[in-house]
Amino acid sequence: MQFESVIRGRRSIRAYEADEVPEELIREILGEARWAPSWRNTQAWNVWVLRGAALQNYKDEFRAAVERDDPAALDLPATAEWPQACSARTAALMKSRSATLAAAGEPTDPAAALARMADLFGAPCLLVFGFDDCLAEAYAGFDCGAFVQSVCLAAYDRGLGTCIVATVIRYPDILRRLLPGADGMRFVVSVTLGRPVADSPANTFERSRADLDELVTWVS
Ligand SMILES: Cc1cc2nc3c(=O)[nH]c(=O)nc-3n(C[C@H](O)[C@H](O)[C@H](O)COP(=O)(O)O)c2cc1C
Repeated sequence: MQFESVIRGRRSIRAYEADEVPEELIREILGEARWAPSWRNTQAWNVWVLRGAALQNYKDEFRAAVERDDPAALDLPATAEWPQACSARTAALMKSRSATLAAAGEPTDPAAALARMADLFGAPCLLVFGFDDCLAEAYAGFDCGAFVQSVCLAAYDRGLGTCIVATVIRYPDILRRLLPGADGMRFVVSVTLGRPVADSPANTFERSRADLDELVTWVS
């Protein structure tokens, strides 16, 4: 696929077909994505691939924590107060998403959104990204982000969909307990992976990007 089509075509996919992604294809995607840049080529990212019974087990534990109303405790805390320009972009995203879902008769309330996330939007595979607790989170998180974007693009190039999801790692102690080698790790994000439901409203609502002039300062 052409570079521009990959960059522009990738979008967050929030409705998946149930069919499994072959292990060979996941290996190909991760193998390509590991060519992402990192601080002094440290490649200090780790990824866990959850499928089958292990995935179901994680979903069950996550749902139980939601039902108990456990407080969210992300390893990398999210920003509490965003600058106004950023909040306005989120508001525009939510408006577009709600309008498209409502027009299709689908629920738009936060509880429904959380339930869909807890089900991983029906994805048959979840990739969980983390790094060793001894690392400075700014650089390790930055490097991990480059890796994650490369995974999303490599998956899209092969006809698969992804969604980066912080919400489903908001109880990281569950992950540290369930995942092999995860003790002493901090989790950055997870990524759902699978074949997109082609015409789902969750996968087709419009998103926009800020004008370049809002982001760029030319200095000469
Ligand atoms: C760090 C990070 C965390 C995210 N967490 C969530 C999430 O919890 N739930 C969700 O539906 N989307 C999540 N997203 C996806 C963003 O909402 C999405 O990337 C953004 O709206 C831009 O849309 P696009 O990916 O379709 O271009 C996350 C994205 C990033 C980069």
